[in-house]
Amino acid sequence: MAQFQLMVLLIFLASQSESAKAHLKLIWKTFKCFSNTDYISEHKCIIVEPEKSLITAELQYIKDVPKYNATFKLFMPRKPSRSFQKVIDVNVDVCQFAKGIHGHRFMTIVVKAFGKQGSQLKCPHPKGFYVYPNINIAENLPAFLPETDFKIEMNFLTSESHIINTSLTGVLIDPIKRKAKAT
Ligand SMILES: *[C@@H]1O[C@H](CO)[C@@H](O)[C@H](O)[C@H]1NC(C)=O
Ligand SMILES: *[C@@H]1O[C@H](CO)[C@@H](O)[C@H](O)[C@H]1NC(C)=O
Repeated sequence: MAQFQLMVLLIFLASQSESAKAHLKLIWKTFKCFSNTDYISEHKCIIVEPEKSLITAELQYIKDVPKYNATFKLFMPRKPSRSFQKVIDVNVDVCQFAKGIHGHRFMTIVVKAFGKQGSQLKCPHPKGFYVYPNINIAENLPAFLPETDFKIEMNFLTSESHIINTSLTGVLIDPIKRKAKAT
């Protein structure tokens, strides 16, 4: 009997989180990139219109990068002041990560978001023109996230210097609730 109740509870929770995932919508507000011109001669960091739920990046690497790290920081507002507080801070060695040695849940989300282009996050990273179209972070976010503003900082760096720093702000909203409020 207890087992049955547990199963019902699990199914209930699973369906709740699925629906949460289905209806929270991510809208990007800003996307800024700062590149080190020793490595990247040109970049474009774009929020894809009109939905603003996807981002695209184009990078011209002018130097091979044998080995590099990626850092990922997530900030959310701290109540009641609404100033941003860091909730996730990871630094992974992309070469090790690509080999599947040091998996990190949030980096896995990020790499999945890159889709097919995720395989370009490898070592060594040859110079050339890279396009990462329609990066979909929302699709891979965990379902438990609340409706909130947030900020992401993602940097790529070698042991000597930063290659590129990116900064994103966005908001997770419930379009159903918004609609109800508006009417
Ligand atoms: C990237 O950020 C680091 C600090 O986090 C800073 O030292 C570096 O100058 C920045 N690089 C660029 C290209 O903005
Ligand atoms: C790269 O990541 C590894 C593993 O987290 C860490 O030990 C190393 O210090 C990092 N290197 C840099 C330059 O941040």
